[in-house]
Amino acid sequence: MTALPRSYDPQRLGVSLRDAGLFLRQAVRTFRATGAIAPSGQALAGALTRYIDQRPDQDSPIAILEPGSGTGAVSRTIAAHMREGDTLDMVEPNAEFVERLNALVGTDPSFAEVADRVTVHQGLVTDLGTDRRFDVIVSGLPFANFTADEVREIMEYYFQVLRPGGYLSFFGYLYTKQVKAIIAPREDYLRQARSSWVVQDWVDRYGVGSERVLPNLPPAWIHHLRKPVD
Ligand SMILES: C[S@@+](CC[C@H](N)C(=O)[O-])C[C@H]1O[C@@H](n2cnc3c(N)ncnc32)[C@H](O)[C@@H]1O
Repeated sequence: MTALPRSYDPQRLGVSLRDAGLFLRQAVRTFRATGAIAPSGQALAGALTRYIDQRPDQDSPIAILEPGSGTGAVSRTIAAHMREGDTLDMVEPNAEFVERLNALVGTDPSFAEVADRVTVHQGLVTDLGTDRRFDVIVSGLPFANFTADEVREIMEYYFQVLRPGGYLSFFGYLYTKQVKAIIAPREDYLRQARSSWVVQDWVDRYGVGSERVLPNLPPAWIHHLRKPVD
């Protein structure tokens, strides 16, 4: 008899398949906002949450913001890396995803220790206001689907609510511009080119690291930015 891999967990596999189905249905319904066909994989989630471990100050709890939580693929990894006193605010406009996220916080083992320090907000991230400050932002927003003005507004918002010395990590998918150059209407290709210039401008100013995550569907890039201390 063939031994199952040690990580094989039928309950977890069932949850993953259910989330993949929910995600795909929302992508078909509203691709502009969802921006992907599948939730992020574990390798991408691990790389995105790097600065929760390499936190600005190892001795203090941190406030984490996760805009665009989707079905919680990255949120679970964030929760697993949270330490005593850390807080997590997830922001998600899609009502079906929000329902899933609330269930996840209430039942998933990754959240067992931290559920009372986790809040799920339904809405756009910029609706959250500017009263709060965060040490780490892990953004899941699909910038490639936004206009240049929308990307600029969100980046400015992130840097307003980020504490000096805090980190922003976000991702996109490799080769989308090249694929769009071939198959998308010219207007859509130009829109994405303009929004990617805005992203690049912020990366040029504040980038502290970039990486590629090939074992993801689709393969992804990540940028890590740091807000200057002064
Ligand atoms: C590419 S999915 C990422 C989902 C999840 N973080 C993951 O990695 O599997 C993008 C998510 O961002 C959400 N979203 C889109 N625009 C948003 C906005 N302005 N504020 C907050 N979330 C947004 C979408 O509803 C969707 O769930």
